[in-house]
Amino acid sequence: MTNHLMNTYMPTDFSFERGEGCYIFANNPKTGVEEKYLDFGAGVAVLSVGHSHPHLVAALNEQAQKLWHSSNWYKSTQQETLSKRLCDISFADKVFFTNSGAESNECAIKVARRYHYAQGNKHKVNIITFEGAFHGRTIGTIAAGGQAKYLEGFGPKAGGFTQVPFQDWDALIAAADENCAAIMLEPIQGEGGLRSFDPSFVVKLRTYCDENDILLIFDEIQTGIGRTGRLFAYEALGVEPDIMSLAKGLGGGFPMGACLATAQAASGMQPGIHGSTYGGNQLAMAVANAVLDIILAEGFLANVKKISGILGQKLLGLIDAHPTIFESLKGEGLLIGLKCKIVNMDLLAALYDQKMLAIPAGDNVMRLLPPLIATEDEVNLAIEKLDISATLLKIETTDGDI
Ligand SMILES: Cc1ncc(COP(=O)(O)O)c(C=O)c1O
Repeated sequence: MTNHLMNTYMPTDFSFERGEGCYIFANNPKTGVEEKYLDFGAGVAVLSVGHSHPHLVAALNEQAQKLWHSSNWYKSTQQETLSKRLCDISFADKVFFTNSGAESNECAIKVARRYHYAQGNKHKVNIITFEGAFHGRTIGTIAAGGQAKYLEGFGPKAGGFTQVPFQDWDALIAAADENCAAIMLEPIQGEGGLRSFDPSFVVKLRTYCDENDILLIFDEIQTGIGRTGRLFAYEALGVEPDIMSLAKGLGGGFPMGACLATAQAASGMQPGIHGSTYGGNQLAMAVANAVLDIILAEGFLANVKKISGILGQKLLGLIDAHPTIFESLKGEGLLIGLKCKIVNMDLLAALYDQKMLAIPAGDNVMRLLPPLIATEDEVNLAIEKLDISATLLKIETTDGDI
C-alpha cells in the first residue's frame, strides 16, 4: 500500500491494536496472531496510569455523551475544576490549557516575555536554556532547545534564545544580562539522556533570578505528574519556579497540556493576547481530572517511590551482571534508564524481540518509562527481558570479535 504519511518517522512494520495496563498488543503481520508487549515506554512517558485505565475510559465516555467541545469563549466548569486542582497541588495561581508539550512551552515563553512587557521592561525578551535541552518541535521551541539537528533546514532560528553549557554557572551569568526575561530548564533532561540538575545549582539560580528580575521556568512535561515519585520534580530541588509547563502524563494519553504560573508571572496575560481553539476542551479536561483522581489518591506516589526503588536496585544488579553492555544508571523514579556501552538502538531492537518496549535518549541512554501503576511483577519481567537481551547481545558481540 502506498504510504501517504510524511516521512518524519521510521515506524515498525507492525502496529499496536489495543492496550491494557502495562501491556500493549500487536497483531503479527505474518501470522495474524496477537502478541503481547511489556510497555516500559508508555508512549514516551505519556500513559501515566497505563493503557485504557477503566477510570479514564469511564470519564472519557461519560463526557463524550454530554459535550465534546464548546469553546474558550464560554465558561467551562471542567477547566475551572482542573485549574483549581493543579494550583492546589503546586506553586501556581494561574493555568492556561494547551494541546501538547511544545504548546505549553510556547505559552511559558509568552507568559515570561509578556510579564516584562507589562512591567514596562520591553527589552527583557531573552530566554536562556541549557545544552541538551528538549522543549518541543515548534519554530519557537526548537530555538529554545537549541539542538542543531532539530533546527537544520527550518530557516532562521527564532530570535531571543541563548543557550549555555549544562550547569555552567559562569556561562549562565555571562549570558544573563539586562535583556534576560527567563531561564528555562528541565529538572531532569529527558531526551538529553536523563541528566539531572544539581539542587544546589538550582537554589543558587532561584536566588539569582529573584535578585535580577528574571523568571524561572521549569519544563516538567516529562518529569511532572508523579514520574519521579514526587508530583513535580521541583519538589526535590527545594525551590519553586515562576512558570511550569506540563503535558504527557497529565493527559494520560489524551493530547493535552498546561502552562502554570504564579499570579505575578501571569500578570501580563490579558484577554485576547493568547489563545487556543482546542486547549481546555471538555474531553481533555475530563480525562486529566480522572488522571489526577488516581495520582492524588492516598498511597499512589508512595507506591511509585517503592516500585522505582526496586527497579533502580535491580538495574544496578543488571549493570554488574553485564559490564560490557551497560555503563551506568541514569535518572530518577520511573524516569530511569541505562547508559549503554553498545549502541542503545541495538538494545532497543533486542528488547523488541523479547516483546518489550523502551525509549532511546541522547548520550546513548535507554529510558525506561513504565506506567506509574507498574507492579513489582512487571518490574521483574522487565529485568528478565533486559537480562536475556543483554546476554544475547553479549554473545553476538563476542561472535563478532572472533
Ligand atoms: C521535556 C519536554 N518538553 C517538551 C516536549 C514536547 O512535547 P510535545 O511532543 O507534546 O510537543 C517533550 C516531549 O518529549 C519533552 O520531553
